[in-house]
Amino acid sequence: MNTKKIAIAIDGPAGAGKSSISKVVANELGYLYIDTGSMYRGVTWAVLDSQIDVKDQVAVEALLPSLNLTLEPTATACKVYIKGKDVTSLIRQQQINDNVSTIASYKGVRQYLVERQQEMAAVGVILDGRDIGSVVLPNAELKIYLTASVDARAKRRWLEVQGTSNEQTLDEIKKNVVSRDEMDKNREESPLVCVEDAVVVDSSNMNFDETVAYILNLVQETINHE
Ligand code: CDP
Repeated sequence: MNTKKIAIAIDGPAGAGKSSISKVVANELGYLYIDTGSMYRGVTWAVLDSQIDVKDQVAVEALLPSLNLTLEPTATACKVYIKGKDVTSLIRQQQINDNVSTIASYKGVRQYLVERQQEMAAVGVILDGRDIGSVVLPNAELKIYLTASVDARAKRRWLEVQGTSNEQTLDEIKKNVVSRDEMDKNREESPLVCVEDAVVVDSSNMNFDETVAYILNLVQETINHE
């Protein structure tokens, strides 16, 4: 069996399951998993914590050099640190969901984070986000565009937040998912696109295990062809 390690890029819209699927696939393969969305969320947390106006691009970008944003990928999560503080759980709050796509539309923010992502990337790695196949890892051996219908994605997010402090109605979640997709697809700087050489995986009618198995199969096929 060919055991060559490759780089895998997974992009797709909000709530498609990229993070949870990538984590399990990376564990199965013994690969490093880098959740790039958590870095955009980390910057958003720092902006809100500093009481900077999210719409003030100049002030947001001026904050970047002082952030010392680091990512510590572990087997169970990508831990995010800002100035040494572990913000991993804080970046999942609703306020972050509501503001992250504005922060992610800023050129300076993207440059700052893409540089860090490329420094961490090598072979034997899975990166997930919106611009991985197009900008961060344009030479990745396998590119996947993981998607699902808006209803399926909103329902999954809704199930995830049941019983947590982030509980919301299905309708509220659907609105956030739709508005983030709109912003991510229509922004000027590296918008969410499905690149030509990506394999589209529509998981609307696949459960979690089926999606993981499908992607593991794509990885094996890619390695066999290398
Ligand atoms: O909620 P979900 O897991 O789908 O999103 P995420 O991966 O945590 O990313 C949060 C937000 O960060 C996205 O809606 C994008 O606005 C932004 N993002 C980006 O612009 N580029 C990336 N490579 C990753 C995330």
